[in-house]
Amino acid sequence: METSAVSGASEAHLPLVAVLATGGTIAGVQASATASSYVAGSISVAQLMASVPQLAGLARLRTEQVANVGSQNMTHAVWQALAARVQMLDADDDVQGVVVTHGTDTLEETAFFLALTAPACKPLVLVGAMRPATALSADGPANLYAAVALARHGMARERGPLVIMNGDIHTARDVQKVAASGINAFASPNGGRIGVMVGVDPLFHGPAQPMPHRYPLEALGPVEQWPRVAVVYAHADLQADVVDALAALYDGLVLAGVGDGNATDAAIDALKRAAAKGVAVVRASRTGSGYVGRGAEIDDGEAGFVAAGELSAQKARILLMLALTQTRDPARLQAIFDSR
Ligand code: SIN
Repeated sequence: METSAVSGASEAHLPLVAVLATGGTIAGVQASATASSYVAGSISVAQLMASVPQLAGLARLRTEQVANVGSQNMTHAVWQALAARVQMLDADDDVQGVVVTHGTDTLEETAFFLALTAPACKPLVLVGAMRPATALSADGPANLYAAVALARHGMARERGPLVIMNGDIHTARDVQKVAASGINAFASPNGGRIGVMVGVDPLFHGPAQPMPHRYPLEALGPVEQWPRVAVVYAHADLQADVVDALAALYDGLVLAGVGDGNATDAAIDALKRAAAKGVAVVRASRTGSGYVGRGAEIDDGEAGFVAAGELSAQKARILLMLALTQTRDPARLQAIFDSR
């Protein structure tokens, strides 16, 4: 991690917001302002902050470069470092709130991991951009401005990690990247956004409902020892060999199933064999919204499966990985997935 800096120190009356940068398109650079290709995670957090001078009117900023990657390359090791920093900043009396800048591709996964592992009584806001920093009409500066405004706001406390994109505020549990392009790429298909920014203030549609902080970072140990969980993506004519191969390598499998978490008979039979050998199996849906409940089409009790409820496959993977540090029992895993 690179050294941190405080800007706007002369404005001592302003709240102090910590910015943890991890890369992404928000820090991406193109060859020209109109080029369609770019490299994510190119500029430093200092350059990113300097590109939005209006931030100086909102807060004093303490910046740290935790990583500088395209978020397709986000790792459990970076998550661990990030969660540790969030935890420390949450305990730092000088800090009013924390912003994490992040690539949009796996932003929702990092937000969900932090929700489960790092207590955030203070505002914790994740933000990205769909257009690189050098684009003709970059969305990063406005998103970053909104993120800092939200992170310094008392109304954002006790809500767990929030994601702000394009003026909309989402919870870590519900938010998803739902489009590969365009600036309106984030939504919460099941729960809906929980608020919007009105100028520099958030307008929340309901009271805070923080997720329980269930997996203390200290108890997880080194990342190399974290349980390994893979996602199996269902499609027409999915064969058993894909499941068999993964079941031999992983502690847990999440099915990104068709419809309500289903797959071909061959794949379901292979998943049953895996479960019988002690591999944890969670059924989620590849559809992007809706609820995968127990027993609708598959007898989960008999198969030893767990139903993911409203969690996407990518978030079910994270919850299963963490839950497997505590239990392998399907009934207890189901109880974990059922608790919000
Ligand atoms: C990334 O996720 O790092 C690249 C895409 C983006 O940030 O929009």
